[in-house]
Amino acid sequence: MSKVISAVPFLDLAPQFQALEAEWLTAIRASGAKGSFILGPNVTAFEQEFAAYVGVKHAIGVANGTDSLILSLRALGIKNGDEVITTPFTFFASSEAIDSVGATPVFADIEPGSFCLDPASVRRCITAKTRAILPVHLFGHPAAMDEIMAIAREHKLAVIEDCAQAFGATSGGRVVGSIGDTGSFSFYPTKVLGCYGDGGMITTNRDDLNEHIRRLRNHGAVKPFLHTEIGCNSRLDEIQAAVLRIKLRTVNSDLDGRRRVAAEYDRRLADAGIKTPSRPKNGTHAFNLYTLRLPRRDGVRQALTDNQIGSSQCYPLGLHLQDVYQHLGYQPGSLPVCEQATTETLSLPIYPGMPVEHVARVSAAVNNALAPG
Ligand SMILES: Cc1ncc(COP(=O)(O)O)c(C=O)c1O
Repeated sequence: MSKVISAVPFLDLAPQFQALEAEWLTAIRASGAKGSFILGPNVTAFEQEFAAYVGVKHAIGVANGTDSLILSLRALGIKNGDEVITTPFTFFASSEAIDSVGATPVFADIEPGSFCLDPASVRRCITAKTRAILPVHLFGHPAAMDEIMAIAREHKLAVIEDCAQAFGATSGGRVVGSIGDTGSFSFYPTKVLGCYGDGGMITTNRDDLNEHIRRLRNHGAVKPFLHTEIGCNSRLDEIQAAVLRIKLRTVNSDLDGRRRVAAEYDRRLADAGIKTPSRPKNGTHAFNLYTLRLPRRDGVRQALTDNQIGSSQCYPLGLHLQDVYQHLGYQPGSLPVCEQATTETLSLPIYPGMPVEHVARVSAAVNNALAPG
């Protein structure tokens, strides 16, 4: 009789939904009953609670994480002819936002351990046109913020932290999103703090940016029907805010759950001769993703697929080598640390509440695939 093997999904959001379903639906019904759907009392309360968690003066709810980057860049006055230094090893939205305001992304290389921007490479990218640095706290690992902030101060550059993958990570005792001029968050359902659709948040300590972003997200209006500039429609709705308020209350235990899964993988993969995720020297990892660096990556991935185990290849091509950026003139070899990472990285399933038997099965499949002979 053949043994039935249950699949190990890359991500399973259903248990979390089931656990919170009753509370979510009650909150959603209550906002509907009040006739409050967009930018209502849940959004205001969530903005305050979010700002308190991150440790900033202001948090502004927007429609998604991409908009949170675009509106931050716009409020900082970044425009056509400006250059913004960012990482090529990230989701496309990080650089797409720079193009969306008419500026040019300039790609610096990454650090081999953290997969985040390498400050030494950032320095080499600075020109007379550089206006800002956009570090991404990738996979939940904080970027080297002390060094990046020092470069920014020296050259009078703005810093936009892309925290889409790193809600709850810390650097130098500060929660990410509280260090640069702005912090940018996504509530896409796969994120550490995910909502019931799309959503995003911008954090800042600057009153001028807070006011400006609040205008921009609502058609540039200073008050109803009075517009002082061209803005857009990027508002957070009450359903998302109601759900996010509930999730924010237990997000620390979700973060602990992710860290426990990561520690279990570390232990079970310790003898595999591969590089398990590095930990920040002076901070904490949020483990939105658990990403290995390993030889024969494609073979290992195939072995996982054969064992009905989900995995993800984040990211298979550096942004500097994407077709859309051909005009920028990068060539294979331009950013070697990033390019090596694109051939060696593999993300394993991780989410709070992932059964330990699944962690064991994934680890055993990786160990077997790498075993000699
Ligand atoms: C690093 C990074 N930046 C920005 C975004 C964009 O967020 P959203 O999908 O909410 O627009 C994402 C989403 O995956 C991301 O991973």
